[in-house]
Amino acid sequence: MGNNNSSLKRKGIKMELDKNVDYNATDLENLGAETKLKCHMPSNDDAIDRVHMFHFFQRSLFQSDFSPPIEERLVRESCKVLDVGCGPGTWLLDLANKYENSSFYGIDNNLAYPNEIKPGNLNFVRADVFDRFPFPDNKFDYAHQGLMRYTAKPEQWSFLISEMIRVVKPGGYIELLATSRGEFKGTGPVLMKLHEAHFSYCLEKGIDTKTMPNLDKIIKLNPDTPIVNRDEKFFISGPNGGKIGMVYQDIHIGFHKSEATTEILSPILGISKEEYKTMITKDLIEELKHTSPEYSLIRFWAKKINNN
Ligand SMILES: C[S@@+](CC[C@H](N)C(=O)[O-])C[C@H]1O[C@@H](n2cnc3c(N)ncnc32)[C@H](O)[C@@H]1O
Repeated sequence: MGNNNSSLKRKGIKMELDKNVDYNATDLENLGAETKLKCHMPSNDDAIDRVHMFHFFQRSLFQSDFSPPIEERLVRESCKVLDVGCGPGTWLLDLANKYENSSFYGIDNNLAYPNEIKPGNLNFVRADVFDRFPFPDNKFDYAHQGLMRYTAKPEQWSFLISEMIRVVKPGGYIELLATSRGEFKGTGPVLMKLHEAHFSYCLEKGIDTKTMPNLDKIIKLNPDTPIVNRDEKFFISGPNGGKIGMVYQDIHIGFHKSEATTEILSPILGISKEEYKTMITKDLIEELKHTSPEYSLIRFWAKKINNN
């Protein structure tokens, strides 16, 4: 398994972030078969690398792959675990290799996940997560959702969360990962301009990124999940955030300087593509040396109670 040409390997991120991580676990040759996807979807090797890198970044930040207390069950029982919007399947590949007694399922409408070269306890299903999930009620012990921050409209979050709760057994868990910019603490003018442009682009598409830090309110509305836990970790992007800040800077700069993002954000900012590229690769990098923009990642998790 694996692709030795992954740019993650070339960058040596494995060594820096987490010594236990095996990047060979994913066969990047199999990824990106369909590249008709829009911005914010992993549609080429660079974007897929960023998704992988983000997985290891968040694992390093939380020092764990998940927050609900399910590890013992994953080891001892034959649990069923679902990852919603699984992308290239990085999280699932990690867990399927680690918890051999359990079975893992990923759903995504993008064929970025490996079809053949994968552990026997891992299955992928192509499905739209904003339609009814292709699984019966109470099938899973744990339903997880990694990052889908620029994808869902407010009403789609409610649907997606209700589907996650439906397919989980009473006594099982749901978990969703969210990002937050809070008060934009420590943010310099260049980064602020970028955030405002991106925010207005998302709003135009009906996606309010401010919904994410409040997903707990949506989860709590479901009578099956009245108690929601919030596990939040703060970090600073850029050199003032140390090693983890530099990894996040790489992910963020990579996203912003991609062709798709350049195409979208340069007209919103009223500048040419060349000026936009200079803004990212020079002005932003320079600004990050003197500022400390604070971000956080939040894991919301809840146990499904038995309402009968
Ligand atoms: C940023 S990626 C995150 C991948 C993975 N959850 C992770 O954290 O590594 C977002 C994923 O959501 C998927 N996605 C977006 N809209 C979707 C939809 N309507 N149905 C299924 N998957 C969707 C995209 O294809 C993409 O793989």
